[in-house]
Amino acid sequence: MAKLRQLVAGNWKMNGTAASLAEIDALKAGIAGATADVAICPPATLIAQAAARAAGSALMIGGQDCHPKANGAHTGDIAAEMIADAGGKLVIVGHSERRADHKEPNELVRAKAEAGWRAGLLVVLCIGETEAERKAGETNAVLSKQLAGSVPEGATAANTVIAYEPVWAIGTGLTASNDDIAAAHAHIRARLAERFGDGAKAVRILYGGSVKPSNAGEILKLDDVDGALVGGASLKAADFLAIVAAAK
Ligand code: 13P
Repeated sequence: MAKLRQLVAGNWKMNGTAASLAEIDALKAGIAGATADVAICPPATLIAQAAARAAGSALMIGGQDCHPKANGAHTGDIAAEMIADAGGKLVIVGHSERRADHKEPNELVRAKAEAGWRAGLLVVLCIGETEAERKAGETNAVLSKQLAGSVPEGATAANTVIAYEPVWAIGTGLTASNDDIAAAHAHIRARLAERFGDGAKAVRILYGGSVKPSNAGEILKLDDVDGALVGGASLKAADFLAIVAAAK
């Protein structure tokens, strides 16, 4: 099966200060000639500066979350339009840390995805099962429910990327086995095809959860794995570039 152009996206989570902008400079230089799309989602405080530094290169900068509304009385929140205004090109929505820490339900994630589109951002929409759900044999059912509830009508390859991130593999050093990743991605592809038809074939499905230079090559080779969403290993340009180099 021909591979889609892969996307390797780094999620810095709540890490990074102005000193970390040196990593953006290193990535900008390091991705020249990369065969994959490359993005970094720094904390909101750094989006504008990171985007300014990345200008003139293929490195995309994005946000880690957005509010469904374009503006208003929502203290502490950030609109998708603000991310775009700061130079962001994409936004992550529905990350499991937001689903857990902020009790974000599928309907809210869906509204956030629509907000990202409204602002012209590429939406990276995360789904994934917990360890208890996997042990109970509910992985596929959980993924189906999250896809049905949080992916809006109108999702296309141009506006949406799905990130499969098993919760138990995030930040734990544990990665899903290659067979489990391939099975989950095939399941996601099939559910997308049911809803969106042939267009679903071009929707990129990223794997996330303890991706690092030593395992990126084998994961990125798997069928239906169209890139990676990387947490810890995206904080240092050298590690992240090694992952980018493994992508197609
Ligand atoms: P780690 O790569 O640190 O496991 O994090 C994955 C993740 O949550 C990316 O969004």
